[in-house]
Amino acid sequence: MTDIFSLQGKTAAVIGGSGVLGGGMVQALAGAGARIAIFYSENPDGAERQKALVEEHGGVAMVCKADIRNEESLKNAFLEIDKNWNRLDILVNAPGVNSTTPLMDISEEEWNHIMDINLKGVFFASRIAAQMMIEKKLAGSIINISSVSSDVPLSKVFTYSISKAGMNNMTRFMAREWAPHNIRVNAIMPGFFPAEQNREILTEERTEDIFNHTMMGRFGETMELAGVLIWLASNNASSYVTGAIVPIDGGFTSMSI
Ligand SMILES: NC(=O)c1ccc[n+]([C@@H]2O[C@H](COP(=O)([O-])OP(=O)(O)OC[C@H]3O[C@@H](n4cnc5c(N)ncnc54)[C@H](O)[C@@H]3O)[C@@H](O)[C@H]2O)c1
Repeated sequence: MTDIFSLQGKTAAVIGGSGVLGGGMVQALAGAGARIAIFYSENPDGAERQKALVEEHGGVAMVCKADIRNEESLKNAFLEIDKNWNRLDILVNAPGVNSTTPLMDISEEEWNHIMDINLKGVFFASRIAAQMMIEKKLAGSIINISSVSSDVPLSKVFTYSISKAGMNNMTRFMAREWAPHNIRVNAIMPGFFPAEQNREILTEERTEDIFNHTMMGRFGETMELAGVLIWLASNNASSYVTGAIVPIDGGFTSMSI
């Protein structure tokens, strides 16, 4: 049965692959045998580090520059993958920006910044990837990284939460739209994992609140996303799963006082 989780011969793109969670996902997918295109938007250092780590373990990786807000730069990056490997089986959308600006103070610029990266960009990237999968008649898997803030409102992260709520709907919409083409679209809904985009938000007081509201009473660790990620990425392991939004949150979303 372990064979059904193998990604040997598959190609995956990870947008946000230089980030904390995205980086862990790069390593998990490479560990399962996939070749990985690691996307970065500005500074290549994080992506190059992930690439080196993949190669150290005998894997194959490339880095791609693309700002997810810019459709043209995304198209060029996917074209590069096509040129190098002539296929794309898996896309992981893990870019993300966050802010704690109170609702009444949010500027249009900040609203657009968060929505453009977390939601609009994910739409354009998914559409380009799906087009590539459809043209090559591949059974594709697109995995969006949502958040536990996407459902019942989480304090302090207003615009971010709305972008993730939109992502949940978009995940189901794309799943419905592309099921006839054998492309599955699902989302992972992480709870709380210390990372770059939430470093300032996770104060001591907030951490205590989070732990009190998490059945397991602790943060998640990046590699605790790996099992569900590989399951969703593998067409042999999750061939009948699409439109799903899977929480990995230590029980956060199933808990009340
Ligand atoms: N860390 C958590 O607790 C948590 C919880 C729920 C969901 N998430 C989601 O997980 C994903 C990864 O975030 P993380 O927590 O690892 O944070 P992170 O800050 O470490 O990573 C964010 C990534 O987004 C990329 N990015 C930012 N702007 C971009 C742009 N314009 N174009 C392309 N990429 C861009 C960054 O380069 C980075 O790789 C995000 O979607 C985030 O919303 C994280």
